[in-house]
Amino acid sequence: GLALSAAWARRPAVTGEELRSEAELPQAFSLPLPIPPVLAPVESGAGGDRYEMVQREVEAEILPGYATRLWTYEGSFPGPTIEARRGRPVTVLHRNELTVPTVVHLHGGRTPAASDGYPTDLVLPQGWTGHHAHSMPDDRAVVTDVQREYGFPLDQRAAMLWYHDHRMDFTGPAIWRGLAGLHFVRDEVEDALDLPRSDRELPLMIADRAFDAEGQLAYPSLDPTLTGEHGVEEPFLAGVMGDVVLVNGAPWPIHEVDTGLYRLRILNASNARHYELEAVAEDGRTVPLVQIGSDQGLLAAPVRHERLPLAPAERYDVLIDFAGLPVGSTVRLANRLGSGGTAEVMAFRIAREGASAPIPETLADDLPEWDRSEAAVVRDLAFRAGRMEDGRHGWVVDGLPFDPARTDVTARFGEVEVWRLIADVHHPVHLHLVGFRVLSRGGRTPLPHDAGLKDTVSLRPGEAVEIITRFDGYRGRFLFHCHNAEHEDMGMMANLEIV
Ligand code: C2O
Ligand code: CU
Repeated sequence: GLALSAAWARRPAVTGEELRSEAELPQAFSLPLPIPPVLAPVESGAGGDRYEMVQREVEAEILPGYATRLWTYEGSFPGPTIEARRGRPVTVLHRNELTVPTVVHLHGGRTPAASDGYPTDLVLPQGWTGHHAHSMPDDRAVVTDVQREYGFPLDQRAAMLWYHDHRMDFTGPAIWRGLAGLHFVRDEVEDALDLPRSDRELPLMIADRAFDAEGQLAYPSLDPTLTGEHGVEEPFLAGVMGDVVLVNGAPWPIHEVDTGLYRLRILNASNARHYELEAVAEDGRTVPLVQIGSDQGLLAAPVRHERLPLAPAERYDVLIDFAGLPVGSTVRLANRLGSGGTAEVMAFRIAREGASAPIPETLADDLPEWDRSEAAVVRDLAFRAGRMEDGRHGWVVDGLPFDPARTDVTARFGEVEVWRLIADVHHPVHLHLVGFRVLSRGGRTPLPHDAGLKDTVSLRPGEAVEIITRFDGYRGRFLFHCHNAEHEDMGMMANLEIV
């Protein structure tokens, strides 16, 4: 039986597996691209930078004329950006003024387990301390308070990381409502390259959403207050997708550029949608996207793409050169996997002439390389449909839905391992703590966009992907999971214990 809450009854229509908005949508490329604010530390010293963030609900105008309720970090969606340096520790005190428990995870961070945002390490809403904690499945693991200080050593390569909610079973709806932000790490390797800076470096957080007739974010949750259940309704087992593409929180925005070189820091923060980006000039010509970095920082050398696939949680660091394009013309960033509104992402308007700059021929020389022969262990892990503990349909890793009380993989500190990942449908698989290299895809050499150090790899139906990494940094309990947020909430997550 499906229980229908009032919110569920008002939800927008569904086409296929996509929600269709009922609010009036703006014309594509009519709104400016917002750039998320950079958060100022409350304290800076020899020991690092200290920040404070309040998680609270706000109303914001995402669609012109509508006030949309959002769950935010510090009142903005995306949350404020943190700018950090390699090896300079950051602490963030999070206070929860929302009405639900939350968990903060720094995606891509080399973070000790205590600050990694384990899904049951809750930051409780005001007044919730005590009895609610006992309904969590693993009482031993529950750490709860109304505020929590997360410590990030950031001893890692320069990269664009992102922070987002990671509460067990509820990550999908929490990110959908706005709990996501960017976190940059910079280092000397990056400084030494003459890459586009300041207003020539654009963070682009891409995320699809759908809006109901009142302009509220639509999410097809089973309502736990009515049913005691959680998760999404059956048509959304594949993941929740909307018909509106937001970049930095604005629908199909436009940004003014000159005819110079720009650096795009792209994140797919969508719950379930995959994109294939192509920059298209007015004359129909493709403007190449020159990849210089991956999830975990710079590549050894640039990789040129006409089309760039983008799975949930992946980041791509890309240069785009607008040289030679007519002033007054527009370059669209299109999504070749979309149709209708989801076929467009954003646009660049060439507003004036600018000085072009060369694209460096070589980039970073600090990429870790591991050889298959170093591997102490080779593991096979299957990401497939399965049943959750209560018998409902869900998604599982090696036949088992997530259980915080079970250790799924025990890795020895310092050892190199090869993981052979296999999937039934698309699953973007993410490992906490470590970066990895893609060794092979479908038994052949990896695809061009698999280059570099990754923390999320896109598995395609029936295709085995081999990854290699060394489990170092910290001991303790970490996670690996599918980053389709609905798959993750429906069981496709497992514990990785480093001993
Ligand atoms: Cu982006 Cu375990 O998460
Ligand atoms: Cu998945």
